[in-house]
Amino acid sequence: GVQTCALPISKIRKVRYSFMTLECAKQKLQQYGQEHLLKYFDTLSETQKEALLQQIEETDFSVLNKIGSNEEESSTGTITPIRALRLPEIHANEDKYRETGLSAIRSGKVGAVLLAGGMGTRLGSDNPKGMYDIGVTKPMYIFERLICNLMDVVRESGEFIHLFVMTSDKNHTATTTFFKEQNFFGYKEDYIHFFKQDMAPAATYDGKIFLEEPYKLATSPNGNGGWFSSLKNAGLLDLIHENGIEWLNVFAVDNVLQRIADPCFIGATITENRSVGAKVVCKNHPDEKVGVMCLKDNHPSIVEYYELTPELRDAVDEDGEPAYNFGVILNYLFKESELEDICENTLPLHIVEKKIPYIDDAGTLIKPEEPNGYKFETLILDMIQMMDTCLPFEVERDKEFAPIKNKTGIDSVESARALLAKNGVTL
Ligand code: UTP
Repeated sequence: GVQTCALPISKIRKVRYSFMTLECAKQKLQQYGQEHLLKYFDTLSETQKEALLQQIEETDFSVLNKIGSNEEESSTGTITPIRALRLPEIHANEDKYRETGLSAIRSGKVGAVLLAGGMGTRLGSDNPKGMYDIGVTKPMYIFERLICNLMDVVRESGEFIHLFVMTSDKNHTATTTFFKEQNFFGYKEDYIHFFKQDMAPAATYDGKIFLEEPYKLATSPNGNGGWFSSLKNAGLLDLIHENGIEWLNVFAVDNVLQRIADPCFIGATITENRSVGAKVVCKNHPDEKVGVMCLKDNHPSIVEYYELTPELRDAVDEDGEPAYNFGVILNYLFKESELEDICENTLPLHIVEKKIPYIDDAGTLIKPEEPNGYKFETLILDMIQMMDTCLPFEVERDKEFAPIKNKTGIDSVESARALLAKNGVTL
């Protein structure tokens, strides 16, 4: 039949590619200055043509309008210090907190969410970051290390904890296959749930979307801020409700030393009656490149290191201590019911410079060594500002923070290995 541009996408997808859908695509591309995406169209097979048209239909090009208007929307508001729960107070109340946390775990109220949808471009491996082998004398994959950390709490509490693993289109199959091959590293398969996050287009600095194949737009995962809506879209909220999960501990794939579902952290957040808990470490240097916790217009918030003015960096609190000194390590405990309340709110979109593989005019795939364009992401740290209350919970850096971002140098495989060794982990 004849298609018109007004047809819902769901209908268009079921019919074969036709002249009119090509016309629709052209109109949409023209509106956003993206006509180059059809450069190879005439050389494509019918299936490839269909795939390309479908991707053009489905892609949200409006993100491109953000290029150039790069003033961060989040930078307005009055910033004041936030009080953190410091190590001495935590130690003094440790038994009480731990008991509260363990009892929440034993009654099934705690779930964990592993954010593993990122591309890990800085590490530069083609596999998902979690498949990276950091072992020295034996294989020790990042995923394996994280499961080992979680198993410590399973053993202590006697209860398995539901683990939700966020992947993306780019690494879903590799990730799920790997977990199966490795027998879920001894974890109970029924307690591991994979879900995929959405993708966003990647563009040149001039806002032209890259092609990664003649029939495929370059896309990348749309940032870790979409984890809760993706979890919801995957239908996993039912499982969360049925199992009575009230708290979700969200954590990054790359910190191999972190404590997951840490009973003391859970207990403190519950006892202090906060909407979210955030593990923090004292900055090791005033200029350390880490987001720090604060209040913005009296709401818990995070100032990114590039937004931290010299005045804020050097500000001190009433005790003469640095006022903005608590860096976040991407380990948060969210009260699930509050996430449902804020989930329809839109998070600010961040424009990030990245290395984006693309095909050049000759049709050759180029893997750039340096950033060559923009990706569009929402970030989990922007969710903190939507919560009413937050408990920054201090942890010892050398015991809980060994992120792997690079192969060597700062935050690398090397530095993480050294920290693991220091904590008695044999690799
Ligand atoms: P990073 O900010 O380090 O990003 O992710 P990345 O994309 O993995 O790494 P680079 O910058 O390309 O080297 C922090 C955490 O958020 C997850 C990552 O998997 C990691 O656990 N993440 C990031 C997602 O789950 N989805 C995303 O879209 C981005």
